Amino acid sequence: MVVVITGASAGIGAELARQLSQLRARLVLSARRADRLNELNAELGGRHLVVKSDVSRQDDCEMLIARAVEHFGRIDTLVCNAGYGMARAIAKTSAEEMLAIFKTNVFGTTDCIRAAVPLMEKQEPRDGFRGQIMIVSSAAARRGLPFFGPYSATKFAQLGLSEALRVELKPVKIAVTSVHPVGTETEFFKVAEQQGGLKMPPPGKGEVRQSSEVVARKMIQAIRKPRPEVWPLAPARYLLSFATLMPSIGDRIMSKYRGEFDQ
Ligand SMILES: NC(=O)c1ccc[n+]([C@@H]2O[C@H](COP(=O)([O-])OP(=O)(O)OC[C@H]3O[C@@H](n4cnc5c(N)ncnc54)[C@H](OP(=O)(O)O)[C@@H]3O)[C@@H](O)[C@H]2O)c1
Repeated sequence: MVVVITGASAGIGAELARQLSQLRARLVLSARRADRLNELNAELGGRHLVVKSDVSRQDDCEMLIARAVEHFGRIDTLVCNAGYGMARAIAKTSAEEMLAIFKTNVFGTTDCIRAAVPLMEKQEPRDGFRGQIMIVSSAAARRGLPFFGPYSATKFAQLGLSEALRVELKPVKIAVTSVHPVGTETEFFKVAEQQGGLKMPPPGKGEVRQSSEVVARKMIQAIRKPRPEVWPLAPARYLLSFATLMPSIGDRIMSKYRGEFDQ
């Protein structure tokens, strides 16, 4: 299998690459930090393709997909994983910062998809699918997090895109899967603090942080056998459905989180 991973230089993307490489997948490792990608490729035996690209740039997304097909001849799964968070109140987020986070998390996703779909459509099916688009959204796609409003909005957008795309692409046998991790131990929170200038409260009592190993393992199950959504921590899905039905209870729970940020 050929799997393109954006955001492969750290966290979930790097761990996914490690686990897929063990399964003998052929990978395209992409992100902005080429040194990190080259180190990862060396660790994995040097048999993968490294493409430095910034998904906030449309031409980089198009170049990434073109390079992947030129090198491997097809793309079985495109994992749109690159993204970042920003710990900041919505009213204190500038228009430029808002645009920047959408450019990476949302347009970086759609620009890669727009480039990949016409190529996938022409591929011969394997195990019933011509290809798969996997979008790494978040559990925050089902409940906006205080002080992570712009970030949550990008993750809601990715879920909306996944739901629509899954139905659009079904007739051409391209699977679409969205992934919804809860807090995961990666560089994410450090980057979110740097981007937003707010210090994150330590994980609260009862708050679960997953490992990137677990998230990657669940993603691979959905690459082997495509499904609509992956919730690496299964109970989160049901708790958030409840919060959707009872928004005022969701607000009360989230107010505790806001209080911790205030402190
Ligand atoms: N960690 C969590 O708690 C959590 C929870 C739910 C969802 N997620 C989602 O999981 C995905 C991966 O995050 P992570 O937790 O693995 O965080 P991470 O450790 O900070 O990794 C983020 C990756 O995205 C890449 N990236 C960021 N901006 C980019 C750009 N403009 N162009 C190309 N690559 C870019 C980074 O590489 P470079 O800096 O080298 O470009 C890095 O490889 C994100 O979409 C995030 O929203 C994370």
